[in-house]
Amino acid sequence: MSGGHSTYTPKTGIERWIDARMPLPRLMYDSFVAYPVPRNLNYAYTFGGILSIMLIAQILTGVVLAMHYTPHITMAFQSVEKIMRDVNSGWLLRYMHSNGASFFFIAVYIHIFRGLFYGSYKAPRELLWILGCIIYLLMMATGFMGYVLPWGQMSFWGATVITGFFTAIPLVGEWIQQLLLGGYAVDNPTLNRFFALHYLLPFMIAGVVVLHVWALHVTGQTNPTGIEVKSKTDTVAFTPYATIKDAFAMVLFLLAFSYFIFYIPNYLGHPDNYIIANPLKTPAHIVPEWYFLPFYAILRAITFNIGPIDSKLGGVLAMFGAIAVLFFVPWLDTSKVRSAVYRPWFKLFFWLFAANAIFLGWLGSRPAEGSYVVMAQLATLYYFAFFLVIMPLLGLIETPRRLPNSITEAVLEKNKAGGAAMPAGATAAPDHKG
Ligand code: HEM
Repeated sequence: MSGGHSTYTPKTGIERWIDARMPLPRLMYDSFVAYPVPRNLNYAYTFGGILSIMLIAQILTGVVLAMHYTPHITMAFQSVEKIMRDVNSGWLLRYMHSNGASFFFIAVYIHIFRGLFYGSYKAPRELLWILGCIIYLLMMATGFMGYVLPWGQMSFWGATVITGFFTAIPLVGEWIQQLLLGGYAVDNPTLNRFFALHYLLPFMIAGVVVLHVWALHVTGQTNPTGIEVKSKTDTVAFTPYATIKDAFAMVLFLLAFSYFIFYIPNYLGHPDNYIIANPLKTPAHIVPEWYFLPFYAILRAITFNIGPIDSKLGGVLAMFGAIAVLFFVPWLDTSKVRSAVYRPWFKLFFWLFAANAIFLGWLGSRPAEGSYVVMAQLATLYYFAFFLVIMPLLGLIETPRRLPNSITEAVLEKNKAGGAAMPAGATAAPDHKG
């Protein structure tokens, strides 16, 4: 599936001329037209494409916003208000960008959970998965810094709290915090460096996405059965099959996105961010954006000292550990069977994990007191147990269901079991040239 032999034949003189000098059209044709993909991909596999579109949308809207934004603490808040009121379609650009960040994260969470469910991270796709984890880290850094730019109350206090975590790290903590802030508190140097980095990181993400898709094209995509492609009948050509499906999913996704932009543009934001930053007035509850809430809950769940590690450092370690553990998933899962479809116990624990992640998110939005803390501690325990205990042990003791011999067999069995009317030719080898 590594691309192999190219089937591209330049048709016009210009195409031949370019192909002889820089075979970019050939690369595009081999990667996005003739490229063979498993014939049984479902809609969960459309989110990579959706993420690519969202990244492009974020970069385009962000670059135009930057033309009107002023990264100075005396003007940042007003410049955002000016964008909303005076710049032509400025309100649309801003709402696209702020809701776009949320929708980017919705898509990435579905993409990651799809990977966990179908065991996409297993050999030989470990590097593909790790590159994804790097993208996710960069996305988090970009989202965090972007939220500081409007210089509202949540911008200021969110930045103060998050950068404060670093002081928990022994010896170098304070130095790291000062490096991030450009001083001893969140101030103009902080806003300046966050703006510079917020502009830079999306391009780094784009670079890592290229590596991610490159790695994908070397190993090929998995599919819901988790069985590798064995013959030509297991695949269809990327165009038109996957292109049409991806495009349809994108339209649905963009419809939901548009609903938020045009009807409830501030639903996912915090009203306090419409109040200009005031270092002398701490808001009653400081909450990060929704996509950080599960990790925020984990951070606050550690209310006790663990040996020499005090609760503050423990919370920071747990929070970073919750992200770091993702990098090791390919080695933590010991199962020989890739897809949860054939692993009844794993499937159960997986859905529990997904519900637990949403629960953690909800807990992150609650004040860290009383029973919320106890619930967050239990949910944090399950979060880590899923990766560190369930994944390694279950792979050794679980008896998976019988696997079909091939993707084609799985598709035909499913059609037979469902008694669904099969489209003409569905049982025959697809007549593509992939
Ligand atoms: C900007 C963010 C991202 C973009 C644009 C992106 C793009 C893509 C695309 C186009 C695909 C192929 C289509 C699909 O399977 O959906 C893919 C597959 C994959 N991605 Fe991502 N991705 C991103 C983030 C991530 C993250 C954060 C992870 C994991 C932590 C990840 C892990 C994977 C894996 C393991 C596959 C292979 C799936 C399989 O074949 O089963 N990706 N990605």
